[in-house]
Amino acid sequence: MNKIVEKENFSEKVVKIVVEAPLIAKARKPGNFVIVRVGEKGERIPLTIAGADVKKGTITMIVQKMGVSSQKLCALEAGDYVTDLVGPLGKPTEIHNVGTVLCCGGGVGVAPLLPIVEGYKKAGNKVITVLAARNKDLLILEDEMRKHSDEVIIMTDDGSYGKKGLITEGMEEVIQRENIDECITIGPAIMMKFCSLLTKKYEIPTMASLNSIMVDGTGMCGACRVTVDGKTKFTCVDGPEFDAHKIDFDEMMSRLGGYKSEEQDKMDHFHE
Ligand code: FES
Repeated sequence: MNKIVEKENFSEKVVKIVVEAPLIAKARKPGNFVIVRVGEKGERIPLTIAGADVKKGTITMIVQKMGVSSQKLCALEAGDYVTDLVGPLGKPTEIHNVGTVLCCGGGVGVAPLLPIVEGYKKAGNKVITVLAARNKDLLILEDEMRKHSDEVIIMTDDGSYGKKGLITEGMEEVIQRENIDECITIGPAIMMKFCSLLTKKYEIPTMASLNSIMVDGTGMCGACRVTVDGKTKFTCVDGPEFDAHKIDFDEMMSRLGGYKSEEQDKMDHFHE
């Protein structure tokens, strides 16, 4: 059992949860995830570690209410307990001093991007971060990102904050004035696809983190299967990060749509 020590609602659908997990807080690296369960028969939910406080022995997770299990987790309050927490899992991000790094996050993908931004900065890189959200209210972790980036560019679909436009527009503006050595993108599949197409055009090595497609996080359910460079990979075991230019995003997106109706059934039942 792990105690929730803090909870903050970022928006109607996105919640920040800080949980006691001293060993994970010590061992975690950027890119790692944990598996959380609420209730003895609860589903396993893989969540990226957005931050950790070694002194307090806590880790921070950002949860998006998607299905029944994440709804249950988001319904817990400070003082409540999650049934179990396993981690850190997944291969950590390979972070080196490469020069200038462009970090691009969209939606809740901004959460797993935060420790990576922090890691690149600590390694001595110049870090330029582009964050995208549908509107101002859905933008998360801006202050934390500013703390660890040399520059932050905000893009919103409706222009309610930052610049109006797509993440790729913000990225291209940076690419045209800076010499970018490496790029990382985390967000919805469609966003990562277009970020990847853009950096391919400019021949910038790019990593994409596919953590959002994991289901049980153990290599057994097969839900996180992706084709990378023509080979089958499992995001939870072989990733979550892959060379973005080699990911078959179209196949991934068609598979992601495959569970929509079952998920909706569960949700309808949950609300009854
Ligand atoms: Fe189930 Fe990877 S999340 S196999």
